[in-house]
Amino acid sequence: MKKLENRTVFITGGLSGIGKACAIAAAKEGANLAIADLKSDDVTAAMDEIKKENPKAIFIECDVSVFAQTQAAIEKTISTFGSLDVALNDAGIGGKPNKIGDMTEKDWTDVIGINLTGVFNCMKHELTQMAKQKKGVIINISSILGKVGFATSAHYVAAKHGVIGLTETAALEYATEGIRVNAICPGFIDTPLLTKGHINSHADVKKHIIDLHPMKRLGKAQEIANAFIFLACDETAFMSGSSIVIDGGYLAQ
Ligand SMILES: NC(=O)c1ccc[n+]([C@@H]2O[C@H](COP(=O)([O-])OP(=O)(O)OC[C@H]3O[C@@H](n4cnc5c(N)ncnc54)[C@H](O)[C@@H]3O)[C@@H](O)[C@H]2O)c1
Repeated sequence: MKKLENRTVFITGGLSGIGKACAIAAAKEGANLAIADLKSDDVTAAMDEIKKENPKAIFIECDVSVFAQTQAAIEKTISTFGSLDVALNDAGIGGKPNKIGDMTEKDWTDVIGINLTGVFNCMKHELTQMAKQKKGVIINISSILGKVGFATSAHYVAAKHGVIGLTETAALEYATEGIRVNAICPGFIDTPLLTKGHINSHADVKKHIIDLHPMKRLGKAQEIANAFIFLACDETAFMSGSSIVIDGGYLAQ
């Protein structure tokens, strides 16, 4: 028996990196998938990869920082598949690095708008639907930087700490309504986000980041997808308000 057979799984940022690995893992477990992401040249190739595992998958163009677009994306998911069983709020950006004194207002609001307000926008509509169903699971992607600081990333760190706060508060508010809300806190994972952040393209920067992890390697998107499936399925029915850390020992130091 597949773990997510016929369940509807909504994933933001599902065209790339961690979100795509989670989408493929959920499709392998029999889920119907709604992938909400920005429109890009990657849509067809990524959706083909996901549909190879389960053809019941749709792409919904959605900027999570825009409230009305997240509402429309959830409505489209429900009108297509009839329910919303699992939501993975994964869409995010790294943002432009700078010390706080040198950070522009735009650099701050861009990251907060996507990485924090984007998660609120999605959760608001997901929870409204799940409360009607009296059933549902939400998984938010935070970070090790939701637990500790990181110089030159105040916007990202603040947003990821906020995601843990949103996760714990929603877990309390909906605990008796059949809804579980948990977060995953990855260490540095080898995805296009690191390439966009010029980490993968500079050997010295990459080595420095790798060396921050006691295991002396980057994580793999599949290692986060394994935790996503664990949290999404009924085996974790008593888990809510938790943040699972998957970081090669980063936070143990
Ligand atoms: N890669 C890491 O080291 C790492 C570590 C900890 C946490 N995370 C978090 O994991 C999540 C996924 O990151 P990733 O590494 O897979 O990155 P990625 O760049 O590979 O994927 C991010 C996805 O989010 C989408 N996205 C960006 N802005 C969006 C918006 N406004 N609306 C909708 N979709 C949007 C992108 O189009 C892309 O498909 C992010 O929240 C990130 O902060 C990543």
